[in-house]
Order: sequence, then C-alpha cells, then structure tokens
Amino acid sequence: MRALMGIDVGTSSVRSLILDPRGRILSVCREEYRFDIPEIGWAEQDPEVWWHAVCRTARRAVGQAGLGGGEIGAVGFSGQMHGLVPVTRSGEPVRRAIIWCDQRSAEQVRAIRESLGAALGRYTCNTVNTGSLVASLKWMQENERENYARTFAVLLPKDYVRFRMTGRISTDWTDAAGTLAFDVARGCWSEEFLGRLGLHVELFPEVLAPSDVAGPLAPAAAEAMGLSTDCLVVHGGADQVMQALGNGILEPGVASVTIGTGGQVLSLLTEPRYDPGLSSHTFNYLARGQWYFMGATLCAGLSLRWLRDHVLSGLSYGDMAALAAEVPPGSEGLVYLPYLLGERTPHMDPGARGMFFGLSMKHERGHLIRAAMEGVVYSLKECFAVLEALGIRVREVVASGGGSRSPLWLQLQADILNKEIYLSDMSEQASLGAAINAGVGVGCFDSYSSACRGIVTRSPNPYVPDPENAARYGEGFERYKALYRNTRELM
Ligand code: XUL
Repeated sequence: MRALMGIDVGTSSVRSLILDPRGRILSVCREEYRFDIPEIGWAEQDPEVWWHAVCRTARRAVGQAGLGGGEIGAVGFSGQMHGLVPVTRSGEPVRRAIIWCDQRSAEQVRAIRESLGAALGRYTCNTVNTGSLVASLKWMQENERENYARTFAVLLPKDYVRFRMTGRISTDWTDAAGTLAFDVARGCWSEEFLGRLGLHVELFPEVLAPSDVAGPLAPAAAEAMGLSTDCLVVHGGADQVMQALGNGILEPGVASVTIGTGGQVLSLLTEPRYDPGLSSHTFNYLARGQWYFMGATLCAGLSLRWLRDHVLSGLSYGDMAALAAEVPPGSEGLVYLPYLLGERTPHMDPGARGMFFGLSMKHERGHLIRAAMEGVVYSLKECFAVLEALGIRVREVVASGGGSRSPLWLQLQADILNKEIYLSDMSEQASLGAAINAGVGVGCFDSYSSACRGIVTRSPNPYVPDPENAARYGEGFERYKALYRNTRELM
C-alpha cells in the first residue's frame, strides 16, 4: 500500500501531510496566506492562491518524506467551511471566493430570518448566518446579477481544489451541511428552502460521502503537484469534522474545543437535534446517521493576529504570550469582546463589534493580550453553555488548533471553562484527519475506528482548573456577557 496525503485548505494556510500506511506521519508542509478585506466586514480569497499553495506544499511534503511522487496512493481533504466559490460551466471562478467570516450578507440574512422564522429549523435544522454559502449566494444574486447568471455551480473551498485535481464537480455531506442550504436530517439539499429563497437548486453539486473517491488525479494536476495519475482523490470533509477525526473523536461524550483562526466547540450527536434558539449548528458527521453540535466564534486566533499585526507591531506570538503571562487572571478588570467580524454563537449577529472595556492607566500591552485570550475563551464558554442547555453530555474535552500550542491559552481554557482539558499528541489534526479519511476511502484502513486506534494518541495528563482562578473567571464571565447585552443596540 502506498502513502496517503491529507491536505487542509485553511483560512490562514494550506497544510499538506504525508502518512505512511502504518500510520506514521512522515512530513507536514505549510504555506501561509491572508484573506482580503476589500470593505469593512468583507472577506475574500482568490482560489488560485489555494491552488498554488496546495501544489507547492504537496511537492515539498513528498520531498521531505523522502518519497517519490508515485508513492502517494491517495489524497484527501479538510477544508475551511461555508465559503462560496461560484464557477462557470468550464470551471473558471466567476469571482473571488466569499469566505466564512464575510459579513456582507447581513441584509439578506435579516430578510430570510424575518420571512421564514422558525421554519428555518424545519428545512435545515439550522439558522442562516452571514458567511454561509447560501447567504453569500443570495447576496450575489441581488448585487452581482451578471455573476449569478454566469454561475454554473457553487463549490466550497476544498471542493474547488478537488475539482482542479479531478474535473469532477461535487461535495461531501459534512461540507454541504455548512452551506446552510442542506436538509441535515434527510441528508439532501433542501429544495423547498432554496425555492423559498428563489435560488436555483441546479447550482448545487452532487453530494457524496467524505470517504468516496472522486476519481484519479488528472494529468495537469499530477504534473503540478508532482504526483502520479494513478493517485486517487478522495472527497474529504469540513475542517471541523476532519479535525475531530484527527483527534480520534468518533463517539458522543468527547467534545473538541478549537482555537484556530475561528474558534469552535464540537460534540457528536446520534440524532439531528437542533438548537431551538438557532444560535448554534447541527451538521452531518462522517457516516450517515451521525451528526454533531457546533458552536462557533469567528475571531479566535484572529484576535491575536489582529493585535500582533495592527496594534503591537513587531512582537512575535512568543513575546506576546510572555507578556500575557505576567498579568494576573482577569487582566485587572480589562475585558475584551472578540467580535471583530461580528459573532455567531450565541448571538448570530453580524453587527456585533469588538471592544476592550475597562481600560485604565495601569493597563499595558500584556493586559491587552491576556484580555484578548480570555475573551476568546469566554466566547467558547458561551458555546458550551448552549451545548449544555441542549442536554448534550460531555465527559472529556480535547483542545485543538493553533491555540493548543500555547500552554497559557490551554490553562485559560481549563480555568475559564472550568473543565479538564486534554491534548492530542498529534499536532496537525485536520490534515491528519484528511489523510486518515483518504485511507478509509481507498481501503488502506478498514474503518475510522481501527485507523484512529492505531494512529491517534492523547496525553494522559490534562490541564486542570485552578479553583481560585475558576471562581474569579466565573465572575468575569458574567461581566463579559453583560457587556454585549448592554451595548448591542449601540453596536
Ligand atoms: C466553522 C468555521 C470554521 C471555518 C474555518 O463553522 O467557520 O471551521 O471552517 O476554519
């Protein structure tokens, strides 16, 4: 059996990982990029940027693993969710992708929610929010008529990359769910919902399982990636799902808490139980008959990136962590709302805005950094509050994403969430999940569970909450929640 490649098409970078068939990670290569903000609240990426980063990292990963291109038997994906990549009949992008953290469709979302109200839950088990493919498409239909008219199909980011490799226009059900046009309970596009919105269901691609093979690598793509044309390309799935797989999460009871570009809390469900307040998401998981709860905050790692790039220029993340560690828990009264891009769970409010509250002459750079780290975890605590209100039981929490490389942020998660936080021994869970999924797709592994048993390990020693800090953060959380409540109208 040949080796497997997992490619994570993220918001801030592409990562390509090589796994040997016995489950050893041979290499991981990463290339960073940014997204464009042409106007306040907009977020776009050029699909060409993903494609070139994929080709370069794939080539480098093969080289670093000491393999030849012909030794990669299958490629699979993890992808940033929700984004709209409209393509013409010949597969050219109609415009740049409108990605998940884009807020331009606020008006369309308000109109949809007003006209459909609670029926939304019945159609899709979810609300509609800005940045979702369906909302961005509605915006395009109303504001860029020519682009809408030229659109032959709508793809998600990783589906576009896979289309470049195979020529096949398709998606998988984990990513389809995140478009918010998918009937999550029945596992198909909600034609009724799309009809109510006046959107054309023919634009929405065929939906397969994450482990289904899309086809062999097309010659031009094989050449560009340095691989061979008998390499099989597997569909893959949404980054949250692939990351959970890379963490070995296959049953209800274990939740993942992620601080990546955005932040998420995820836990598996055995039924498509949706949040009647429509403040979180219910999406499809790896197999039919499996769903998951997800609460999402938009600006998690991005909050620190914004501070680093625009406020504290010149500091590295390492310097920032050192400054934050000198500040006492609670940041001496400074509270941060991470709503620089609006907020999803629990507010679903594209008009929400970020803030530092309680600034005084005593506060220095370290306070800004620590308050931002605390504010991100408070927003994840709000996701847990929705999960708990739904009666979803969690016995273990596993941390993921770039934030889990920071011991300070991990301890803050333990203290603020007041839960023990476990850490996976694997550092690149999303691209690892993508490689495992590819292996299941081509029969290299018998099942997800047998693959995870042999590959994924977790550190036995969790980060444990400090009772004094947990009590202090309990009070801080109340102040944090009151801040949004009291400034919502002003925002
Ligand atoms: C989840 C979400 C993120 C993005 C970016 O709702 O928005 O997972 O996929 O990583």
